[in-house]
Amino acid sequence: MANERKLKLGAWIHGVGGGWGDWRHPDSLPNASTNFEFYRKQAQKAEEGKLDFVFIADSVSINENSSPHYLNRFEPVTILSALAAVTNNIGLVATITTSYSEPYTVARQLASLDHISHGRAGWNVVTSWLSGTSDNYNQKPHPTHNVRYKMAQEYLEVAKGLWDSWEDDAFVYEKESGVFFDKGKLHTLNHEGEFFHVKGPLNIARSKQGQPVIFQAGKSEEGRNFSAKNADVIFAGDGNFEDLKEYFADLKRRARVFGRNPNNISLLPGIIPIIGDTQEEADRKYQEIANLVTIDKALHALGRPFDDHDFTQYPLDEPFPDTGDLGSNSHQGMSDIIKRKAKEQNLTLRQVALDFATPKGEFVGTPEKVADLIQKWFEEEATDGFIIGAATPKGLPEFVDRVVPILQERGLYRTEYEHDTLRGNLGLEIPENRYAKKPIQQL
Ligand SMILES: Cc1cc2nc3c(=O)[nH]c(=O)nc-3n(C[C@H](O)[C@H](O)[C@H](O)COP(=O)(O)O)c2cc1C
Repeated sequence: MANERKLKLGAWIHGVGGGWGDWRHPDSLPNASTNFEFYRKQAQKAEEGKLDFVFIADSVSINENSSPHYLNRFEPVTILSALAAVTNNIGLVATITTSYSEPYTVARQLASLDHISHGRAGWNVVTSWLSGTSDNYNQKPHPTHNVRYKMAQEYLEVAKGLWDSWEDDAFVYEKESGVFFDKGKLHTLNHEGEFFHVKGPLNIARSKQGQPVIFQAGKSEEGRNFSAKNADVIFAGDGNFEDLKEYFADLKRRARVFGRNPNNISLLPGIIPIIGDTQEEADRKYQEIANLVTIDKALHALGRPFDDHDFTQYPLDEPFPDTGDLGSNSHQGMSDIIKRKAKEQNLTLRQVALDFATPKGEFVGTPEKVADLIQKWFEEEATDGFIIGAATPKGLPEFVDRVVPILQERGLYRTEYEHDTLRGNLGLEIPENRYAKKPIQQL
C-alpha cells in the first residue's frame, strides 16, 4: 500500500483576503474567516471532490496592517472539530506552532480531534516566523530560526511519545471484573530534554489511525531536514516546475538518508487555480482580483515573510532594499526567493511587492489546461500532488466541479475514498506503538 504513488489533493480553506484575494471582490464574503457556514460548504465541497484533506493555516501575531483573514479568524483545531461533525472521509489538518505552545496540550487537542473525526486529524507543524508572536506569549525572546527547529524536533518527539501512552487495546472495559484498563499497557514518557520536561502519560487513548498525520513546510536547510526526517506530507510555496523538480528530488534524497522510504513522504505545492471557459476569461478573472490589490496592501503583504517589516519606508521605484538578516531569521525560504529574484531580475520594490501580492502562476486557464499541468507535474515527479488555494469562495467549487472530473476520467484521481482515515487515504501505514509487545515468534 505504502509504495503505490497516487496523486494527492488538499483544499486550503482561507476565509477572506489572506495570502491572495481581496475582501472587496464581488464574490467575497467579508466575514468568511469567522463564518462557519462558509467553512462547512467549502469542506463539504472538497469532500464531494474526494480531496484528501482540508488545511487550516494559522499564526498568532497580528498588527493593524495584517490582511483581513489574519485579523479575524478561527483557531484551527476548533473549526476542524466542528467540520469533523459535518464530514465523513476528508482529512482535517490543523496548523499549530511548536514555538508558542505546550506539547502536552497540543498532543491532547490533536488526539481529541483524531477521535472526534475517527482518524482524520493532521498537524501542520510550524515554528512561527513572526517575532511579534513573543509579545503574546509572555515576551520570552523569540527563538532564532535554528533554535526554533531544534525545539520543534524535541516537541514532536514528545508529542509522538505521548500519543503512545496507551497501547491500542489498553482499555478493556471489563464490567464484570471491574477492570477498566490493563495497567501493563499504560506507559509514562518521563521526557527530560533541552526544551521540554514532560512526564505523561497522556489522558487520551490512541486513535483509529494511531497518530495524527504530520505535515510540514520548511524550505531552509534546517526546514528540509526537519521535514524529510519527520513529515508525511510537505507543503511548498507555489514554485515553478524546474524548481519543484529539484526540491522533490532533494527531499526524497534526504528522506533516504534518514532511513525513510521516499514514497512515504509527499511534496505538495500550494496553487491557486483560476478557471475560465477560455484562457481569456480566466485571465480576465485573474485581473479583476489583481486590480483590487493596491501598492500599500502589496507592501504590507510583502513585509510578512520579512518579520512584518515596514516596506512603506523605502522609495518604490528604486532597487529592492537591503533588509539585512530579517528574512533569514523569519520566513527564510520565501524571503530568500524574493531577494534572489529581485537581484537576478534587477527589480524595483514596486515590482517585487506587486509580483508577491498578485501571484499569477501557471494555473490560470481552462479546466483542461489546469488538469494537463497537474498531470505533467505529478507524472514528471515535480510533485506528489497539490494544495488547492482560492482567491474567492468560488475557486474551490470550480476546481472540484470542473478539474477533478477530468483528473478522474484520466484515471489520475480517485472516484471514491479508499478509507475513512486520513492515513488510509494517503496510503500511509499506522505507526506501531513503541511499547507494543511483539508476539513471540513460533519456531
Ligand atoms: C503551503 C504553505 C503553508 C504554510 N502554512 C503556514 C501556516 O499556516 N503558519 C505558519 O506559521 N507557517 C506556514 N507556512 C510556513 C512554513 O511553516 C515555514 O515557516 C516556511 O516555509 C519557512 O520555512 P524555512 O524557514 O525553513 O524556510 C506555510 C508554508 C507553505 C509553503
